Amino acid sequence: MSNKLLDKFGREINYIRLSVTEHCNYRCFYCRDDEHSPNCKREDILSYEDIQRIIKIFAELGVSKVRLTGGEPLLRRGIVKIAQLINNIDGIKDVPLSTNAHLLEKFADKLHKNGINRVNVSIDSITPDKFKEITRGGDVNEVIKGIDGAIAAGMHPIKINVVAMRGVNDDEIESMIDFAIEKGIDVRFIETMPIGSAGIENQSQYISERDILDRINKHLGAKLIKLTPSKTDGPANNFKIKGTNSTVGVISALSNHFCQTCNRVRITAKGDLILCLGQEDSISLKDAVRSNLSDNEIKQIIIDAIDKKPEKHEFNSSMDNISNRQMAEIGG
Ligand code: GTP
Ligand code: 5AD
Ligand code: SF4
Repeated sequence: MSNKLLDKFGREINYIRLSVTEHCNYRCFYCRDDEHSPNCKREDILSYEDIQRIIKIFAELGVSKVRLTGGEPLLRRGIVKIAQLINNIDGIKDVPLSTNAHLLEKFADKLHKNGINRVNVSIDSITPDKFKEITRGGDVNEVIKGIDGAIAAGMHPIKINVVAMRGVNDDEIESMIDFAIEKGIDVRFIETMPIGSAGIENQSQYISERDILDRINKHLGAKLIKLTPSKTDGPANNFKIKGTNSTVGVISALSNHFCQTCNRVRITAKGDLILCLGQEDSISLKDAVRSNLSDNEIKQIIIDAIDKKPEKHEFNSSMDNISNRQMAEIGG
């Protein structure tokens, strides 16, 4: 059995986005419907043992990066233990976290000591009232304390993710860049994607990578130096900002298909393996690890699933193909 996971388009899968909970303490309007609340019992969610076995099998198949996502991963009881056990698996070299940072101040040091080397923080505005509106009740001051906690704990790099939305926060593109430079951290602007009913509705606020880059260029001009991505990187197009410790990037799932270099799959909190962010299909790894299959048999299930990974998402062409799962369920 090969120790590389290759799909039928020759892409090597080395990056897993593992959602550890569907719950979230924020309710960003582009991410989830106001009335949506996750309904899952404890036994539906992958246990520590399930997670450990699944990730060990993936590591033996060549995966080296496991990003913890949610919902809000810091709401999962035992998140520090989950970080620690994943970090201790042979072959896993990078265990980052994607969080809204509301609880990060309290957790940053413990997480860092237990293998979370870096964090990506969602923060769509630094204006308290606007932040509260976007997140339906969030407190940007807590998030900023969380970012400061991560810096103090020695996490590096720290990236902030800003979903850019016309008429909502596009007037803050420059101030978010200045905020990142001041903190010595990185910033990425994300094109809004039509995922779940909330994401589909939010497409009216879509801003393209081109327009975002124009604004970045006007603000920073000759200070931008294009960076080349490494093998396990996510999909951002990044630039170093000369004379600072920061980079700025754009993630453009719609205007610029990065699917040809896709290196990742997702696992939901309930243990479903999702082959592409944009599609419904999934395979239950929870059922596989809770049956009496051997590791080799589960490896074969994973290899067969990866063979079905679609070539690309179809966000642009037909709304019919788009996943109706909520973003918080898939983990972004
Ligand atoms: P790094 O490891 O720091 O490069 O992180 P990342 O950019 O992979 O992770 P993060 O959780 O910060 O995701 C940033 C944005 O990229 C989110 O909006 C994700 O939904 C989006 N994203 C990540 N992977 C994919 C993908 O395969 N397809 C699409 N369309 N979007 C993705
Ligand atoms: N479009 C783009 N990004 C989204 N995220 C959540 N929903 C969407 C959407 N519809 C982002 C979050 C977070 C990341 C994990 O996914 O803001 O930064
Ligand atoms: Fe929660 Fe993140 Fe979704 Fe916002 S984007 S509701 S913080 S899961």
